[in-house]
Amino acid sequence: MSIELPTLDIIEGSKEIATTGEETYAAKSKRSGEAKKGKVYIESYGCQMNFADSEIVAAILKQDGYSTTDSETDADVIFLNTCAIRDNAEQKIHSRLQSLKALKRKNPKLVVGVLGCMAERMKQSLFEQEKIVDLIAGPDAYRSIPQLIELAESGQKAANVFLSLEETYADITPVRREGVSAFLSIMRGCDNMCSFCVVPFTRGRERSRPFQTILDEIKMLSDEGFKEVTLLGQNVNSYNDEQGKVNFAELMYRASLIDEKMRIRFTTSHPKDISDELVSVIAERPNLCKFIHLPVQSGSTRILALMNRNHTREDYLKKIEMIQSKIPDCALSTDIIAGFCTETEEDHRETLSLLEQVRYDYAFTFIYSERPNTPAAKKLKDDVDNATKQRRLQEIVTLTKRIAAERYAESIGKVYEILIEGDSKRSSEMWMGRTDNNRVAVFPKTGQEKAGDFVKVRITNATAATLIGERI
Ligand code: SAH
Ligand code: SF4
Ligand code: F3S
Repeated sequence: MSIELPTLDIIEGSKEIATTGEETYAAKSKRSGEAKKGKVYIESYGCQMNFADSEIVAAILKQDGYSTTDSETDADVIFLNTCAIRDNAEQKIHSRLQSLKALKRKNPKLVVGVLGCMAERMKQSLFEQEKIVDLIAGPDAYRSIPQLIELAESGQKAANVFLSLEETYADITPVRREGVSAFLSIMRGCDNMCSFCVVPFTRGRERSRPFQTILDEIKMLSDEGFKEVTLLGQNVNSYNDEQGKVNFAELMYRASLIDEKMRIRFTTSHPKDISDELVSVIAERPNLCKFIHLPVQSGSTRILALMNRNHTREDYLKKIEMIQSKIPDCALSTDIIAGFCTETEEDHRETLSLLEQVRYDYAFTFIYSERPNTPAAKKLKDDVDNATKQRRLQEIVTLTKRIAAERYAESIGKVYEILIEGDSKRSSEMWMGRTDNNRVAVFPKTGQEKAGDFVKVRITNATAATLIGERI
């Protein structure tokens, strides 16, 4: 999805990679030899796919004898798994690299690596701009990280930014944190070429993981005690296992049968691939969550065409109608870009009116940021001035908050099944969990429940982002 999450490190002592059968002596000694390899600290930026990728990187490294650490000062290797979606995402990485210089001075043997989308976008030019960087690996090159580290340790600059048509890491079991909810990447890349977007260049062509490997992993997650799984892809609903003849609707249906108590979510969807079949499956199967993140980007058909989104305002609204008629209680969220090239006040008002019409629970809002070499950067002029972009963004934010507050207030008096995720951030006397349609709910602990439980909660109050209730 599109949230820029806070940094996450892979914690030492998180689950080991599953090993089956007996280990041979050679394997054992090889492993103990490899266990002498260094400690790796991974910090992740960007979307959930990047966070999920860090768990794959941790698995590849563990298999090779490295261990992971949550302390950067303790690490032999530091990786930043980066995002390139907007200029400010990359600026954050530049300043983070500056702050790592002190560690490198103390320990000249420290290997500093840049992974992910910014590595892919900048390629070897990153070595020239940031002298501290020893290693660069793009999103399809993670299997080669152990060799890249060896090269870097021998004093060479090491890079692999090869993009693959096949790589899905289907055979690698990510090293996940223990918890209630897990992420599972089911496809990679994007073929859509929205004119503003860098993702097709940083993550390459679209490819889907064989469906059986996905179903097996969901089963494993259920056996391990996870209560919720989010299927991930930049364009997740265009999932298509051609060999297995399984499309996204079929995959969701089969996934829902594995453990009927397990909640299944997905993100991010493209409007063009929200089919009747998919929405019907979500409506029918109780454990497929009644929540769809459906980025619209703009309410103006003229701007949508310049964005190469392949849908008009009317096409989008028809999809929304279809969803709301099949799933009346479905919650929706979206992504909006303010101030795209040539956007007029009238285009902007169309965005505001679309927000009024759809009534989203939440909108992720961004100021247009021109990305080098994208079709928009080559063909269009970034001609909306910054003050106007800021003002339009603010209007969008104010309106979405007002609508969200109204929608949340409609929940007061109703009873929801909440999956408890953990303590509320505000108070350890309260639990925090989510409704099926992805609303955050908090309620006082009764001493009878724990994280991972499903409980019934009556909503007594609400803000624009949180439901407040009590257990019944
Ligand atoms: N694959 C998803 C979203 C990918 S990026 C989709 O197609 O919906 C997440 C969001 O970042 C996008 O939906 C868009 O709103 C925003 N975004 C992407 N490129 C951007 C840019 N150049 N400037 C500002 N926002 C951008
Ligand atoms: Fe980018 Fe468009 Fe692909 Fe989303 S669908 S990742 S916005 S090109
Ligand atoms: Fe994700 Fe950012 Fe890459 S949003 S796909 S990490 S450019």
